Amino acid sequence: MARIGKYQAVKGMGDSFPEESGRWRALENWACSVAGRFGYGEIRTPLVEPTELFVRSIGEETDIVEKEMFTFPGSGNKSFSLRPEGTAGVVRACLEGNVFASNPLARYFYLGPMFRRERPQAGRRRQFHQFGAEALGSRHPALDAELIDLLLLFLEECGLTGWTLAVNSVGCPECRPAYRERLGRYLEEVEEKLCDNCRRRRETNPLRALDCKNPGCRKLAAAGPKPLDSLCPDCSSHLAAVRELLTGLDLPFSLDPLMVRGLDYYTSLVFEVTGPALGAQDAVAGGGRYDNLVGELGGPDLGAAGFSVGLERLLLGLAGKEIPPVPAPAGRLYLAAVGPESFRSQFNLLSRLRRRGFTALTDYGKRSLKAQMREANKLGVDRVVIRGPEELSAGTVKIKDMESGKETTVPENETITSLTRCISS
Ligand code: HAM
Repeated sequence: MARIGKYQAVKGMGDSFPEESGRWRALENWACSVAGRFGYGEIRTPLVEPTELFVRSIGEETDIVEKEMFTFPGSGNKSFSLRPEGTAGVVRACLEGNVFASNPLARYFYLGPMFRRERPQAGRRRQFHQFGAEALGSRHPALDAELIDLLLLFLEECGLTGWTLAVNSVGCPECRPAYRERLGRYLEEVEEKLCDNCRRRRETNPLRALDCKNPGCRKLAAAGPKPLDSLCPDCSSHLAAVRELLTGLDLPFSLDPLMVRGLDYYTSLVFEVTGPALGAQDAVAGGGRYDNLVGELGGPDLGAAGFSVGLERLLLGLAGKEIPPVPAPAGRLYLAAVGPESFRSQFNLLSRLRRRGFTALTDYGKRSLKAQMREANKLGVDRVVIRGPEELSAGTVKIKDMESGKETTVPENETITSLTRCISS
């Protein structure tokens, strides 16, 4: 259609008319539904934050901070930036609101625009939109697996097919210095073949060379040392535990030793989902652990992880497909586990129940059954599913109706049918 009028939207930013806005709303409804089932509540943070917050979090020598932020001066010497991503703002908000005082495991999701001054092309915009989820307060590998499960369930329920999941570990302050040194030495050997950016960052931020889009640098990175070869025992066992949990949930993934993600705050596990038919911009979603960020921004030393999905890219992957409507929510459940074997079984059941529309939570803090029942009560759930050593050996679970206090024992393989029946009756 020929354009009329004197003004056009800013390059890389655009409008949505009702036909398209309906699809946006459908994605947003799915995001709220899926995140809700995993116990993530919505957080809304400002579009503008102090520039320093992004510099400290994302890293001074990253593409985002070096060349992609929309930055403007405030009064005095202040500098502000439009948010290029959501994690830094969520951590800032959690610290400012002191959420950890009342909530040792804070789980939030967000929806909204992000801004990066990139060269616009299909699937790459200067104003784009993310659905993100962040969980702060635990280093348990089940948290990583839960976030990946949430992300994949969201993509599947929106109707995306043909996605692939890759995971990797980028190490932690324990093992990364030695790796950086190894990588630095290698990059020095091949310095002449590196692009200007990688040459410049070689000494100060060599890991970024693994993320460089330049084909020559990619080839060199593939031939050099990988973070996986230098992991400390904690990072190795964390990666192994997450892989085991993902396998237990039947979620297919591959290990990509070259994936480091474009932001410096990551530690240990990272992941990325690529979508079908997205061309050069094929990453639909990415995330990982950022166990040091909360501490670096002045908060307590606690584990945290998250992801975000690019909604423009998701819509491209869903082109020509109907986005299904969101079903009515099923009941609210708490799964109490006693011991590691019980936890593994409950973790799998958790995932299956969420796929059936239930809001379902469990404990990652290895707390006593009594403490878990207290937590379930506080959360106001309809039923608690208990699986202790007795139930494990009998192949059953105990279902407690929190309103009447009545307990029923049912065979393990009838748990979902039984819960569906008693909650809908
Ligand atoms: P990211 O990989 O920079 O991670 O972005 C996540 C997703 O946002 C990408 O996979 C992509 O789908 C989308 N995206 C990024 N840039 C653009 C763009 N210019 N145009 C369109 N879509 C884009 C983060 O933002 C982290 N905050 C993820 C995270 C959350 N890690 C931990 N918690």
